[in-house]
Amino acid sequence: MQKETSLTDNYIQKIYEKWCKAGKKPKLKCVTYGCQANVHDSEKICGLLYKMGYEACESEEEADLIVYNTCCVRENAENRVFGNLGQLKKLKAENKDLKIILCGCMVQQDAIVEKIRKSYPFVDVIFGTFNLHRFPELLYTNIETNSQIIDIWQDAKEIADDLPAMRQHKFKASVNIMHGCDNFCSYCIVPYVRGRERSRPPEAIIKEIEALAADGVVEVTLLGQNVNSYGKGLESNINFADLINKVAKITGLKRIRFLTSHPKDFSDELIAAIKNNSNICKSVHLPLQSGSTAVLDRMNRKYTKESYLALVKSLRDAVSNIAITTDIITGFPYETDEDNEETIDVLKKVRFSGAFTFIYSKRSGTPAAAMDCQIDEETTKRRFDKILNALNPIIYEISQSHIGHTYEVLAEEPSKSDDTLITGRLDDNSLVHFKGDTSLIGQFVTVKITDCKTFYLIGEIIE
Ligand code: 5AD
Ligand code: SF4
Repeated sequence: MQKETSLTDNYIQKIYEKWCKAGKKPKLKCVTYGCQANVHDSEKICGLLYKMGYEACESEEEADLIVYNTCCVRENAENRVFGNLGQLKKLKAENKDLKIILCGCMVQQDAIVEKIRKSYPFVDVIFGTFNLHRFPELLYTNIETNSQIIDIWQDAKEIADDLPAMRQHKFKASVNIMHGCDNFCSYCIVPYVRGRERSRPPEAIIKEIEALAADGVVEVTLLGQNVNSYGKGLESNINFADLINKVAKITGLKRIRFLTSHPKDFSDELIAAIKNNSNICKSVHLPLQSGSTAVLDRMNRKYTKESYLALVKSLRDAVSNIAITTDIITGFPYETDEDNEETIDVLKKVRFSGAFTFIYSKRSGTPAAAMDCQIDEETTKRRFDKILNALNPIIYEISQSHIGHTYEVLAEEPSKSDDTLITGRLDDNSLVHFKGDTSLIGQFVTVKITDCKTFYLIGEIIE
């Protein structure tokens, strides 16, 4: 990867010099779709562009370069990209020098690349999830030739993790601990567009986090599609619990989070690590997908309703105040009303403090797309509403239970709706808004919770 990185630096330098000669500070707008992995990739893409001389701007209209970092997990994410690309055609017609970059999961699919080639010739550079480090070279080639550059790899042994990242926040950061996924849940396209599971060596991860901590980062989120299977295929004999125990010892780190946990691989050792390290946050995202064992089987999830509930019990027995959030898919092929009731039963038993709820989206090439009994829209919508009606009162009750209590809160950003308020997070990942000014951002403050809505808390700083 060393050689790759110096090649990358070479093209960064060439583009930087071009802009210096032109005497212009070019502007970039990066739009990210999808999950934390994409958000983190965007930080790296922006980091590369920053080194090329670009600076971020607010709107697409003022940008010299627009990046769409795409997601293909559900069809509506793809439709939004195509809709927005249609809008960009007008901007490109007004400004021939505007560069449009399309990257990420969506373009790992041949049919999508074909559609872009045919119908969106104004897109300048297209690259996938395996060759992010080649972006400077691809952009340089496009600038030199003014032709559409497409470079999609199907695989890569190593992914360049040592790229400069332009972090959204100075005080918190995400760190990839692995790439890809080997689970092949039958509905999911991720294994096809992000490739086989590859864990990063622990030394590289620790070095990266030590550097972040030395740079003032107090919170890290360890990222992987299934962090619980970390370590497979590595030379050193290490698992995720070992890794997180090492990370917890890094000086300066106050909060450690991790995403995403697959219930089938959640070990007792990991539960012990969460219990024994005060800087590992007491919150776990544990996608359920469905509460019906029959549906879970068709989804190829490799756990049952009972084993999921047993895992939650073990977590709560060890760490009584742990907050558990989840993902749920409604309308999976062959799902019945009874299956939906099973999911509602699990929601009531576990009492999730948050959930991402999705309507099943048929992804071509996945085993579920070929299943006979696809569920009609009306039935799915009815079941989906039933899920929300069960879920939201529970989330509200959990929010209410915080009222009157006092917590250490990491102040993160000004509130989006009221700039006299600061938005922060509790250790358990709950959002809280409180009166304060921007000088608090990045600091821990003590906040008493005074009120709540379903999805956030309201509080006041106490001295
Ligand atoms: N349809 C709906 N939701 C999906 N997810 C993944 N694939 C699909 C699909 N085809 C959801 C799962 C996963 C989350 C990231 O996205 O709930 O946990
Ligand atoms: Fe998709 Fe399943 Fe892998 Fe998650 S674990 S990325 S849902 S295949």
